[in-house]
Amino acid sequence: MNFSLEGILKELKSKDFYNIEIIRSTTSTNDVLKSVAKQGELEGKVLVALSQSNGKGRLGRNFFSQETTGLYFSVILRPILLPKDSILITTAAATAVAKAIKEVSGKNAKIKWVNDVFVGSKKVCGILTEAGIKNEKYLDYAVLGIGINAFYPENGFKNEIKDIAGAVFDNNADGMRNKLLAKILDNFYDYYKNLTKKEYVKEYISLSCAVGEEVTVISNSVEKDAFCIGIDDECRLIVKYPSGEKGVLSSGEISIKIKSV
Ligand code: BTN
Repeated sequence: MNFSLEGILKELKSKDFYNIEIIRSTTSTNDVLKSVAKQGELEGKVLVALSQSNGKGRLGRNFFSQETTGLYFSVILRPILLPKDSILITTAAATAVAKAIKEVSGKNAKIKWVNDVFVGSKKVCGILTEAGIKNEKYLDYAVLGIGINAFYPENGFKNEIKDIAGAVFDNNADGMRNKLLAKILDNFYDYYKNLTKKEYVKEYISLSCAVGEEVTVISNSVEKDAFCIGIDDECRLIVKYPSGEKGVLSSGEISIKIKSV
């Protein structure tokens, strides 16, 4: 079946939680849902766009969102969480995506701390969680945005990303997007129900491609070599620098490159 609401609902188990809308094109599904979340839209609203003219990534980057080959969607969440714990949403989503890719395509997907999902040495998915704060303490809402390269564009990926981007499926079998989206939403809902119990974190760590690897830590354009020792139960990266000093890194403004990838 073509990529459609009907096709997604046929596969989806957690229908009671989600309210899905598909549109042809928008600027950024995250921007649209942030705006409706501020006006009171309920948790579980999902906006899927076939293309985005201003898809956004972490750290102010663009997210290339070409029509017909991707899966670009956002979800409104209203968890009772402190802002520092919104990392749990991103990491639960990365785990849900990696697991869904395996379930639907059979391919092993790995997570690059904190928000990227890779198949082999290529990035197939990026995740961006943006939140609004209530009473200066807890989150009012969070918008979870997920962008996946489902298929290879006919003329290849744009020059800027062609060396790093890959796709989940080798062939453009359209119905696969219904299955993949439904699995991601179902997997995510399973983790989200008990998010603060952090039961998914073990799985997140086991899917990491950073642990046990030499990495470059990039913070405010400064690069430092380090060895990744592990990830703690708050999803912070634990590294050891060549000086022997240990670092416990929260995602904020930090990104990493993995030397072997
Ligand atoms: C990253 O790679 O740094 C994160 C990319 C997140 C992209 C998704 S696509 C759907 C949603 N809308 C956006 O503008 N961004 C997210």
